[in-house]
Amino acid sequence: GSHILSVNQLDLDSIHTIFSVADRMAPYALREKRTRVLDGAILGNLFFEPSTRTRVSFGCAFNLLGGRVAETVGMAASSLSKGESLYDTARVLSTYSDVIAMRHPDAYSVREFAEGSRVPVINGGDGPNEHPTQALLDLFTIQKELNQGGRGIDGMHIAMVGDLKFGRTVHSLSRLLCMYKNINFTLISPTELAMPDYVIADIENAGHKVTITDQLEGHLDKADILYLTRIQEERFPSQEEANKYRGKFRLNRSIYTQHCKSNTVIMHPLPRDSRAQANELDNDLNSHPNLAIFRQADNGLLIRMALFALTLGVDSQLEKYECAVNW
Ligand code: CP
Repeated sequence: GSHILSVNQLDLDSIHTIFSVADRMAPYALREKRTRVLDGAILGNLFFEPSTRTRVSFGCAFNLLGGRVAETVGMAASSLSKGESLYDTARVLSTYSDVIAMRHPDAYSVREFAEGSRVPVINGGDGPNEHPTQALLDLFTIQKELNQGGRGIDGMHIAMVGDLKFGRTVHSLSRLLCMYKNINFTLISPTELAMPDYVIADIENAGHKVTITDQLEGHLDKADILYLTRIQEERFPSQEEANKYRGKFRLNRSIYTQHCKSNTVIMHPLPRDSRAQANELDNDLNSHPNLAIFRQADNGLLIRMALFALTLGVDSQLEKYECAVNW
């Protein structure tokens, strides 16, 4: 029944619980089974910044548990654009909803909103700060991908590449990984887009090894996980400013084959930028078995279903409210 605003609220026990409920969601996500456990419940899905995966998977996750979704999409569609506060907005919308998912361009805005909310609020991304549900689905994916090859999270090497300054997914994921043992982090970015010092401090204080570099090639040979990110152009003062960094850290099949281990798992939170000169992850890897980017997105549905079930306290009642699949 509590908010999910930051990965710092989680510990290994709560992560394991979320993952075990997520695994139990698979038959419902695959439409092999159906449950109405959230019949009558309403999700307020508030997206004040563009989104494909997070918005739609929050909505579909709620639908797949039998609930309904009330959406607000874009700042212009909300009275926030008339100067209404996050607090007042939350106070009103939380009367209409049983749980709220929210994305907003400002850091800590979702926390401010949660203070006015009468129902649990889940952070779907607050500016450059955090994206906790993405980090959970990333970690869930990492665990599955590594386990398949007989590897584990403890002791693994991860290379994070790209815009580590504004990329909120790597901020959240790094903190989650801090809870494991002996992780080797290689942080690859232009100097101007380096991982914030406070995240590096968290990693080092937890006793993990960090290598920081602005070179992609030569730093990939040990990576079990290669986690790429997009230049977050919406956080830059101008397109020109963002353009300076486009195409600098670009992975394609030839670079992958030359510089990575044969079992390096390729991840990206998506969206990847497919415009000319921008593509940080080329399409020539699309059919590669180690490309996990769409498995990440698929896992997002399971993780968000699990978070709703746990937040609303119905995780033990999925089977009780099962009904026929009639399509
Ligand atoms: N990974 C992710 O957050 O994607 P969207 O911005 O499309 O939701």
